[in-house]
Amino acid sequence: MNNSLLEQINKEKLPNHVAIIMDGNGRWAKKNGKERTFGHKSALGSVRSSIESCRKLGIKYLTLYAFSSENWNRPRLEVNVLMTLLSSAIKDEINDLHENGIRLNVIGDFSKLPSKAQKDLTKAMELTKHNEGCVLTLALSYGSKEELLYAIKTIAKQYKNGEISDDDFNEELVHKNLYTHDLPMVDLMIRTSGETRISNFLLWQIAYAELYFTDVLWPDFNEEEFYKSILNYQNRERRFGKISEQLTS
Ligand code: IPE
Ligand code: IPE
Ligand code: MG
Repeated sequence: MNNSLLEQINKEKLPNHVAIIMDGNGRWAKKNGKERTFGHKSALGSVRSSIESCRKLGIKYLTLYAFSSENWNRPRLEVNVLMTLLSSAIKDEINDLHENGIRLNVIGDFSKLPSKAQKDLTKAMELTKHNEGCVLTLALSYGSKEELLYAIKTIAKQYKNGEISDDDFNEELVHKNLYTHDLPMVDLMIRTSGETRISNFLLWQIAYAELYFTDVLWPDFNEEEFYKSILNYQNRERRFGKISEQLTS
């Protein structure tokens, strides 16, 4: 089944950067008569499938929204479980990631994470930093408004210190000061679980992204679902403000 969908994908028309809002773990657990945290534990399989799909297709950038700046407001127990799962997942997966040439990257307010998670992530990023395969970016304690505010403050300081002048103000300057300065703009943004909102994720970076919403809950999002989203993306016409005729000529 996976293979037939995989074969339908046009390798010449792949998105360069896919971002995913991995949503619906809690509802998935409830549906299965379990605690919310069971849903978070079951999420790892879908993370693996998405990475594997990108690897098979040759998609270079995959960015996963794993924990938002707003998620700190959840019950303490759930936050603690998520942070523990993060550390154990990094430890369990890092060798596989490394062997597959994946480079790990993190965006968000790193300083808010527990020191154990910071250490595990730093080690994993260090180990994989020279890898040239897929760039896997985890958004952790990430908020897009926070990121933009940080960029604005940095730019204001540079301006005040005379490091930049009026002529330097352009899109490139903003891009350079985002957490995602070394990533391209997002081509395809996927959100699972039927919610159709952005929840403070990559607001600048999705300016011209194609948005794909599916009712599938994150723990059920497998390779097949990933390929469906790519096929859906390939059926869109990305006009960037032009008209169809201009694109075909
Ligand atoms: C997404 O699943 C995971 C995180 C936000 C950490 P949820 O935990 O939001 O699951 P639902 O949306 O409550 O079902
Ligand atoms: C968004 O999911 C954040 C992540 C997937 C990490 P939420 O479940 O926190 O989003 P809202 O609160 O329903 O918008
Ligand atoms: Mg949710």
